[in-house]
Amino acid sequence: MSNQTPQIEPTTEALVKLFSYYRDAEMRGATLLIKMMQRDKDPETQVLFSRHIADETRHAWLWTKRIRQLGSFPVEVPDGYQRRLGKALGIPLSVVDLFALTVIVEERSVRRYNEHAASPYCDPETRLLLGELTKDEKWHISWMEEWLAKLALDRSIEDHARAQLARYRQVEGEIFEAFKDEERRWLGFSFSDGDASAALAAG
Ligand SMILES: [Fe+2]
Ligand SMILES: [Fe+2]
Repeated sequence: MSNQTPQIEPTTEALVKLFSYYRDAEMRGATLLIKMMQRDKDPETQVLFSRHIADETRHAWLWTKRIRQLGSFPVEVPDGYQRRLGKALGIPLSVVDLFALTVIVEERSVRRYNEHAASPYCDPETRLLLGELTKDEKWHISWMEEWLAKLALDRSIEDHARAQLARYRQVEGEIFEAFKDEERRWLGFSFSDGDASAALAAG
Protein backbone atom coordinates (compact mmCIF):
# COMPACT_ATOMS: atom_id res chain seq x y z
CA MET A 1 0.00 0.00 0.00
CA SER A 2 1.16 3.50 -0.76
CA ASN A 3 2.25 5.84 2.03
CA GLN A 4 1.16 8.88 0.09
CA THR A 5 -1.33 11.10 1.86
CA PRO A 6 -4.56 11.31 -0.09
CA GLN A 7 -5.03 14.69 -1.72
CA ILE A 8 -8.79 14.53 -1.97
CA GLU A 9 -11.15 13.49 0.79
CA PRO A 10 -14.54 12.01 -0.06
CA THR A 11 -17.43 14.20 1.07
CA THR A 12 -19.76 12.95 3.81
CA GLU A 13 -22.59 12.98 1.32
CA ALA A 14 -20.70 10.69 -1.07
CA LEU A 15 -19.73 8.34 1.78
CA VAL A 16 -23.33 8.16 3.00
CA LYS A 17 -24.38 7.21 -0.51
CA LEU A 18 -21.74 4.48 -0.71
CA PHE A 19 -22.51 3.13 2.77
CA SER A 20 -26.21 3.11 1.83
CA TYR A 21 -25.25 0.88 -1.12
CA TYR A 22 -23.40 -1.44 1.23
CA ARG A 23 -26.35 -1.45 3.61
CA ASP A 24 -28.76 -2.23 0.77
CA ALA A 25 -26.54 -5.09 -0.48
CA GLU A 26 -26.40 -6.63 3.02
CA MET A 27 -30.16 -6.29 3.50
CA ARG A 28 -31.00 -7.77 0.11
CA GLY A 29 -28.49 -10.54 0.72
CA ALA A 30 -30.41 -11.39 3.91
CA THR A 31 -33.72 -11.30 2.01
CA LEU A 32 -32.44 -13.77 -0.57
CA LEU A 33 -31.11 -16.08 2.15
CA ILE A 34 -34.49 -16.07 3.90
CA LYS A 35 -36.13 -17.15 0.63
CA MET A 36 -33.55 -19.89 0.14
CA MET A 37 -33.97 -21.11 3.71
CA GLN A 38 -37.72 -21.41 3.23
CA ARG A 39 -37.16 -23.74 0.26
CA ASP A 40 -34.64 -25.96 1.99
CA LYS A 41 -35.86 -28.74 4.29
CA ASP A 42 -32.54 -29.97 5.63
CA PRO A 43 -32.32 -29.36 9.43
CA GLU A 44 -28.57 -28.79 9.42
CA THR A 45 -28.87 -26.21 6.63
CA GLN A 46 -31.60 -24.44 8.63
CA VAL A 47 -29.06 -23.79 11.37
CA LEU A 48 -26.45 -22.50 8.91
CA PHE A 49 -28.96 -20.26 7.16
CA SER A 50 -30.20 -18.86 10.48
CA ARG A 51 -26.71 -17.88 11.56
CA HIS A 52 -25.89 -16.48 8.14
CA ILE A 53 -29.09 -14.37 8.01
CA ALA A 54 -28.38 -13.04 11.52
CA ASP A 55 -24.92 -11.96 10.31
CA GLU A 56 -26.20 -10.17 7.20
CA THR A 57 -28.92 -8.25 9.02
CA ARG A 58 -26.34 -7.27 11.66
CA HIS A 59 -24.05 -6.05 8.87
CA ALA A 60 -26.88 -3.90 7.50
CA TRP A 61 -27.38 -2.51 11.02
CA LEU A 62 -23.65 -1.76 11.41
CA TRP A 63 -23.69 0.24 8.15
CA THR A 64 -26.80 2.03 9.38
CA LYS A 65 -24.97 2.92 12.61
CA ARG A 66 -21.94 4.14 10.65
CA ILE A 67 -24.20 6.41 8.57
CA ARG A 68 -25.76 7.77 11.78
CA GLN A 69 -22.24 8.40 13.19
CA LEU A 70 -21.71 10.63 10.15
CA GLY A 71 -24.81 12.57 11.22
CA SER A 72 -26.91 11.26 8.35
CA PHE A 73 -29.66 8.83 7.42
CA PRO A 74 -29.51 6.07 4.83
CA VAL A 75 -30.39 7.31 1.35
CA GLU A 76 -32.56 5.49 -1.11
CA VAL A 77 -30.77 2.98 -3.34
CA PRO A 78 -32.94 2.51 -6.42
CA ASP A 79 -30.31 0.72 -8.49
CA GLY A 80 -28.32 -1.31 -5.97
CA TYR A 81 -26.01 -4.23 -6.58
CA GLN A 82 -28.53 -7.09 -6.31
CA ARG A 83 -31.06 -5.26 -8.49
CA ARG A 84 -28.46 -4.90 -11.19
CA LEU A 85 -27.54 -8.56 -10.86
CA GLY A 86 -31.21 -9.54 -11.01
CA LYS A 87 -31.71 -7.49 -14.16
CA ALA A 88 -28.68 -9.05 -15.85
CA LEU A 89 -29.23 -12.65 -14.77
CA GLY A 90 -32.90 -13.01 -13.93
CA ILE A 91 -33.81 -14.70 -10.65
CA PRO A 92 -32.19 -18.15 -10.46
CA LEU A 93 -34.85 -20.81 -10.01
CA SER A 94 -32.97 -23.85 -8.74
CA VAL A 95 -31.43 -24.06 -5.30
CA VAL A 96 -28.07 -24.99 -6.83
CA ASP A 97 -28.14 -21.84 -8.97
CA LEU A 98 -29.11 -19.74 -5.96
CA PHE A 99 -26.19 -21.17 -3.99
CA ALA A 100 -23.83 -20.50 -6.92
CA LEU A 101 -24.98 -16.88 -7.20
CA THR A 102 -24.69 -16.34 -3.46
CA VAL A 103 -21.12 -17.68 -3.46
CA ILE A 104 -20.16 -15.18 -6.18
CA VAL A 105 -21.82 -12.30 -4.29
CA GLU A 106 -20.07 -13.28 -1.04
CA GLU A 107 -16.71 -13.50 -2.81
CA ARG A 108 -17.22 -10.00 -4.13
CA SER A 109 -18.15 -8.59 -0.74
CA VAL A 110 -14.94 -9.91 0.86
CA ARG A 111 -12.80 -8.62 -2.00
CA ARG A 112 -14.49 -5.23 -2.08
CA TYR A 113 -14.42 -4.74 1.71
CA ASN A 114 -10.72 -5.65 1.73
CA GLU A 115 -10.01 -3.22 -1.09
CA HIS A 116 -11.93 -0.49 0.70
CA ALA A 117 -10.05 -1.13 3.96
CA ALA A 118 -6.68 -1.05 2.13
CA SER A 119 -7.48 2.22 0.38
CA PRO A 120 -5.54 5.29 1.56
CA TYR A 121 -8.90 7.11 1.58
CA CYS A 122 -10.47 4.81 4.17
CA ASP A 123 -11.00 6.42 7.60
CA PRO A 124 -10.04 4.46 10.75
CA GLU A 125 -13.64 3.86 12.00
CA THR A 126 -14.75 2.48 8.65
CA ARG A 127 -11.62 0.33 8.44
CA LEU A 128 -12.46 -1.20 11.82
CA LEU A 129 -15.99 -1.93 10.69
CA LEU A 130 -14.81 -3.48 7.41
CA GLY A 131 -12.47 -5.80 9.34
CA GLU A 132 -15.37 -6.90 11.53
CA LEU A 133 -17.59 -7.64 8.51
CA THR A 134 -14.91 -9.50 6.57
CA LYS A 135 -14.47 -12.03 9.38
CA ASP A 136 -18.09 -13.14 8.93
CA GLU A 137 -17.99 -13.09 5.12
CA LYS A 138 -15.20 -15.68 5.01
CA TRP A 139 -17.35 -18.14 6.92
CA HIS A 140 -20.27 -17.40 4.59
CA ILE A 141 -18.25 -18.37 1.53
CA SER A 142 -16.91 -21.56 3.07
CA TRP A 143 -20.25 -23.04 4.15
CA MET A 144 -21.98 -22.04 0.93
CA GLU A 145 -19.23 -23.51 -1.26
CA GLU A 146 -19.31 -26.72 0.73
CA TRP A 147 -23.11 -27.05 0.39
CA LEU A 148 -23.06 -26.13 -3.27
CA ALA A 149 -20.54 -28.91 -3.94
CA LYS A 150 -22.62 -31.36 -1.89
CA LEU A 151 -25.90 -30.45 -3.62
CA ALA A 152 -24.32 -30.65 -7.07
CA LEU A 153 -22.79 -34.04 -6.26
CA ASP A 154 -26.09 -35.43 -4.89
CA ARG A 155 -27.83 -34.35 -8.09
CA SER A 156 -24.95 -35.31 -10.40
CA ILE A 157 -24.86 -31.78 -11.82
CA GLU A 158 -21.32 -30.76 -10.95
CA ASP A 159 -20.69 -29.56 -14.52
CA HIS A 160 -23.80 -27.41 -14.41
CA ALA A 161 -22.77 -25.90 -11.07
CA ARG A 162 -19.28 -25.13 -12.37
CA ALA A 163 -20.70 -23.54 -15.53
CA GLN A 164 -23.12 -21.42 -13.51
CA LEU A 165 -20.35 -20.23 -11.21
CA ALA A 166 -18.30 -19.19 -14.25
CA ARG A 167 -21.27 -17.45 -15.90
CA TYR A 168 -22.29 -15.60 -12.74
CA ARG A 169 -18.70 -14.60 -12.05
CA GLN A 170 -18.35 -13.08 -15.52
CA VAL A 171 -21.64 -11.14 -15.44
CA GLU A 172 -21.03 -10.00 -11.86
CA GLY A 173 -17.55 -8.78 -12.87
CA GLU A 174 -19.05 -6.58 -15.57
CA ILE A 175 -21.64 -5.17 -13.16
CA PHE A 176 -18.97 -4.41 -10.59
CA GLU A 177 -16.79 -2.61 -13.16
CA ALA A 178 -19.77 -0.41 -14.07
CA PHE A 179 -20.32 0.29 -10.36
CA LYS A 180 -16.67 1.34 -9.99
CA ASP A 181 -17.09 3.84 -12.83
CA GLU A 182 -20.08 5.36 -11.07
CA GLU A 183 -18.20 5.46 -7.79
CA ARG A 184 -15.41 7.41 -9.51
CA ARG A 185 -18.01 9.95 -10.57
CA TRP A 186 -19.34 10.35 -6.99
CA LEU A 187 -16.03 10.29 -5.17
CA GLY A 188 -13.39 11.17 -7.74
CA PHE A 189 -11.90 7.67 -7.29
CA SER A 190 -12.97 4.13 -6.46
CA PHE A 191 -12.09 2.49 -3.17
CA SER A 192 -11.20 -0.54 -5.32
CA ASP A 193 -8.53 1.37 -7.25
CA GLY A 194 -5.86 0.62 -4.65
CA ASP A 195 -2.57 2.46 -4.98
CA ALA A 196 -3.58 3.86 -8.35
CA SER A 197 -6.05 6.16 -6.62
CA ALA A 198 -3.37 7.68 -4.39
CA ALA A 199 -1.04 8.17 -7.35
CA LEU A 200 -3.85 9.79 -9.30
CA ALA A 201 -4.76 12.13 -6.46
CA ALA A 202 -1.13 13.03 -5.76
CA GLY A 203 -0.42 13.61 -9.46
FE1 LIG B 1 -22.47 -9.25 4.92
FE1 LIG C 1 -22.05 -12.51 3.67
